[in-house]
Amino acid sequence: MTYKTLDLSIADAVATVTLNRPEKRNAMNPTLHVEMTDLLEQLRYDDAVKVIVFTGAGKAFCAGMDLKEFFVELRDNPREYDRITRLAVEWRYRTLRYHPKITIAMINGYCFGGAFSFVEGCDLAIAADEATFGLSEINFKMFPGGSVSKAIANLLSPRDALWYGLTGYTFDGREAARIGLVNRSFALASLRDEAIKVARDIAGKDAVALRAAKEAFRYSLEMSGDAAMSYSSAKESEVVLRQNDAWREEGIGDFISGKYKPGLGGIEQASGGAHR
Ligand code: COA
Repeated sequence: MTYKTLDLSIADAVATVTLNRPEKRNAMNPTLHVEMTDLLEQLRYDDAVKVIVFTGAGKAFCAGMDLKEFFVELRDNPREYDRITRLAVEWRYRTLRYHPKITIAMINGYCFGGAFSFVEGCDLAIAADEATFGLSEINFKMFPGGSVSKAIANLLSPRDALWYGLTGYTFDGREAARIGLVNRSFALASLRDEAIKVARDIAGKDAVALRAAKEAFRYSLEMSGDAAMSYSSAKESEVVLRQNDAWREEGIGDFISGKYKPGLGGIEQASGGAHR
């Protein structure tokens, strides 16, 4: 599939997916939802990719749902409206959350409304200090619908969620980091370098362990303590099987033989970059 709204590049086990509608501030139109669904499915099975970084072309990360193509032009087509709504919720709320690859939102500029659930669905988020965020729905006589209210309830304190949800006030990347919507913010000029560094550091880790770390966290959130212990125990056996006990043989083995100190970094750092 060739994409009209997305651009994909892959280097060093890191895929960069760029929302590519800069003239529309990368608003998510129906085509983008269809294409993103397809692309995430493709990347799921791409062994060359361990980490996916999402960003936007031009001065926006993502201006939220395409207000015209989605809410207005599909008003009289309830079947298509329902189909696209389901896709839109599915990829941001579920597919990203449980995607086998590690996902990072790199927020380079405008980030409004529906883009919050995109950011929340990613495992990590890094913003430009200069980025502009806002739950703008209230400004156009709506509320944060679709998957957005649940996304902000998952991530933000009730005070911050309702502050921004009720006022529609904008805020910058530093504030996004302060309230926990993103992990860190950096000057726009260094944003890409910082995000790619984190992505490469993560890509240097064992792929099976990465997936287990993500899944153990995601599923533990939904379980009782006892169920989570049982899940973790089963997951440990799965990891051993999938990586042929490499964590014991090499991970712990190399520590015991004095090759590296896992408290201070991975074996890939100790061996000058090569990862195993
Ligand atoms: N849906 C549809 N089109 C959008 C859009 C959106 N969410 N956001 C921007 N666009 C379009 C504009 O209509 C305009 O199209 P045109 O050139 O055909 O007229 C184009 O993108 C550029 O937008 P413009 O407003 O001129 O750019 P700007 O840089 O001055 O402002 C925004 C950018 C994002 C601040 C402003 O466009 C905006 O407020 N958009 C709505 C954001 C929003 O409420 N999103 C929540 C949706 S859930």
